[in-house]
Amino acid sequence: MESEKNKPQWDSTLSFIMAMIGSAIGLGNIWRYPYVVYSNGGGAFLIPYLISILIIALPFLYLEYVIGFEFKTSVPNIYKKVKKPLEVVGWFICFVPFLILIYYVVIIGWDIIYLVLSITKGWGANTNTFFTTTLLHSTTSISGLSHIIWPVLGSLIIIWSIIWYISRQNLNNGIGRFSKILIPLLVGIMAVVVIYSITLPGANIGINALFKPKWDALFNLNIWLAAAGQIIFSLSLGWGVISTYSSYLPKNSNLIKNGGIVAISNCSFELLTAIGVFSILGFMSITEHVPINHVVTEGTGLIFVAFPMVFNKMGPYANIIGPLFFLCVFFAGITTTISLLEPISNAITQKFKIKRENVVTILCAIGFIVSTVFATGMGTYLVKIADSFLNNFGVLFGIVLEGLIFGWLYNNKKLLKIINKNGKIKLGNWWVYLIKYIIPILLIGILANGIYELILNNNWSTLIFQLIIGILLVIFPTIFTLLPKREEELEIE
Ligand code: PFF
Repeated sequence: MESEKNKPQWDSTLSFIMAMIGSAIGLGNIWRYPYVVYSNGGGAFLIPYLISILIIALPFLYLEYVIGFEFKTSVPNIYKKVKKPLEVVGWFICFVPFLILIYYVVIIGWDIIYLVLSITKGWGANTNTFFTTTLLHSTTSISGLSHIIWPVLGSLIIIWSIIWYISRQNLNNGIGRFSKILIPLLVGIMAVVVIYSITLPGANIGINALFKPKWDALFNLNIWLAAAGQIIFSLSLGWGVISTYSSYLPKNSNLIKNGGIVAISNCSFELLTAIGVFSILGFMSITEHVPINHVVTEGTGLIFVAFPMVFNKMGPYANIIGPLFFLCVFFAGITTTISLLEPISNAITQKFKIKRENVVTILCAIGFIVSTVFATGMGTYLVKIADSFLNNFGVLFGIVLEGLIFGWLYNNKKLLKIINKNGKIKLGNWWVYLIKYIIPILLIGILANGIYELILNNNWSTLIFQLIIGILLVIFPTIFTLLPKREEELEIE
């Protein structure tokens, strides 16, 4: 259904909620969350995590919802309407997810390769050597750039084609329809994987390790920062996705209820996955005869090294559970990637009045070309650098600006009224105080910590690469702000 003004609009609340959940549930839920919980106090982490949801994530989620809903336009336009020069902040917020998309697809590319390999356990006995050397020829040396990794390049072509195919269609036929298909499938398959995992011998060791509270951890500031960082990442806050998706909502939407459903679904899925992942790690701990803390690894190590090792030990069931697991990562990843493209494609469509399908085609072509850098021997190293920079800095910088701008330069009491308009549950005035004072202070703390970690943990070559991304993040938003807007109306979908 399109509105009279030819602006895109969700055909149902279900499409919106599924698209939102699709964005929230991503690689972060499957590999990031379990490790973050474990390395930050186990069960005790759940307390800062829960408090961060209530004090930072939910209020901020509602802020992003309401600004999209109220202004019903692209992110740069929203900021421009607050104060003209702020348009550049909106473009910055849209560029960060586009840059993230460029390497996020690479991890999904590795996943596709593993999806195929899992059918025959084609990774062999030494899964670590297979991943880093046999498959990816990983190197930190610049000469690695000339070494193309063909299977990765092939899977990048597949992924960019899927993103292009889904995103170029109009909102409901593309993002809406695919989210409604993929999210239930994802949850169903993940439930099968988790149920099987908790029946494995040793599962209880893993689950105990995950939830056993280490109470002293509560006195460690880093754990609070990790909890806030995790939930910001997990709920897709600060990257313009939520505001873009909510700008497509019809006038009578119940913001409080929809936001609550998305947050609860995401956090439940996160918990479900963590239970599955730790059950599998518990199984690995007893089959390998090593303590559980030696088998817990993060990120790519978890999915592409530890898990294949476990599937090697699992017997015939691995031939089903393995492919199902990699399929889950694939579905979770794809629904997130289409949300990463949406803020920038919507912003360009609206400012320059270019047809959505053409914008998406150009962005996917550029994205594909740039992402081939990651399909080289230096790929794994570059993914790591880009990830740490954009997550520690790019996202948090945008989120701090967003909090300050809507806390101080805009009438947030008016926003509160709009949030409360269509639902039975209402937010109180405390929301305004959280947005204005508490959240900016907390976020500036998290940002400062992120920058500190970035400088502390990196060498010069890494910092230079990150500086280049930083400069691009200034140049592109500035250019897009300065380019004149096209006035004539075009039928946009
Ligand atoms: N929420 C995604 C995940 O957990 O993997 C990551 C993400 C996607 C963050 C989209 C922000 C965003 F706008």
